[in-house]
Amino acid sequence: MSKKTIVIVGASRGIGKALVELLAKNPAHRIVALSRDVEKMEDLFGDFENVLAFPFDLLHNVRDEARTIFEGIGKIDILINNAGKLVNKPFSEITHIDLMECYQVNVIGVMETVQAAIPLMGDGGHIVNISSMGGFQGSVKFAGLSAYSTSKAALCSFTEMFAEEYKESNIRMNCLCLGAAQTEMLAEAFPGYEAPVSAEKMAEFIANFALTGDQWINGKILPVSLSTP
Ligand SMILES: NC(=O)c1ccc[n+]([C@@H]2O[C@H](COP(=O)([O-])OP(=O)(O)OC[C@H]3O[C@@H](n4cnc5c(N)ncnc54)[C@H](OP(=O)(O)O)[C@@H]3O)[C@@H](O)[C@H]2O)c1
Repeated sequence: MSKKTIVIVGASRGIGKALVELLAKNPAHRIVALSRDVEKMEDLFGDFENVLAFPFDLLHNVRDEARTIFEGIGKIDILINNAGKLVNKPFSEITHIDLMECYQVNVIGVMETVQAAIPLMGDGGHIVNISSMGGFQGSVKFAGLSAYSTSKAALCSFTEMFAEEYKESNIRMNCLCLGAAQTEMLAEAFPGYEAPVSAEKMAEFIANFALTGDQWINGKILPVSLSTP
């Protein structure tokens, strides 16, 4: 498989951490790991010579920050927008800040990161957005997740919009709507529930899809789920 530069946003734990560890096993790839906790990522990935970790907080306007990081690394082949912000509260208790943060991290920050990445993707590449079954139209919905699931639905919609606007380019974007995988976020969303899929197993699917899926599909929203939730 050819050498790729792969940016993973939200790489310090859960599925993103598993993605870095899996993809970095191929020394031909260069992995760029982003999250707010750079010290943790340096501890986690210190043994990999092909992993570069940078601090990155999607809660701000991230376009300039992302551009600076991306220009420093040169060409990007794959961008995996994996970071996510969960709010789990009854609808009547959700605050303005909850809504703003959820939409900033899960939608606006992703769109700004993509704006910064496009010039470095040149004549092709694959952007994979990590959404949720909660944001997949027609799926079973769960009380408490209205801020989170609607923001993930917006991420699905962005995927379709981007693919239309960039259809003349070879940059392809797809969206994976994940079902339950055992992580800290899952434990917060569904306390006590045991997912049938580990973070590592989910990362296997995402990694394979990110490396190859763009040969066949563009602008698609795919459910990736064994269970409800
Ligand atoms: N696990 C599931 O069952 C499940 C189901 C459906 C969808 N998903 C989606 O899958 C993705 C990964 O989920 P996970 O379960 O692995 O979550 P997780 O364990 O909570 O990890 C979330 C990652 O996102 C990063 N992140 C959070 N806020 C950020 C911010 N403001 N700026 C930059 N990075 C930020 C975190 O890093 P720092 O805290 O270090 O910044 C962390 O690395 C998310 O998009 C989630 O919505 C997960």
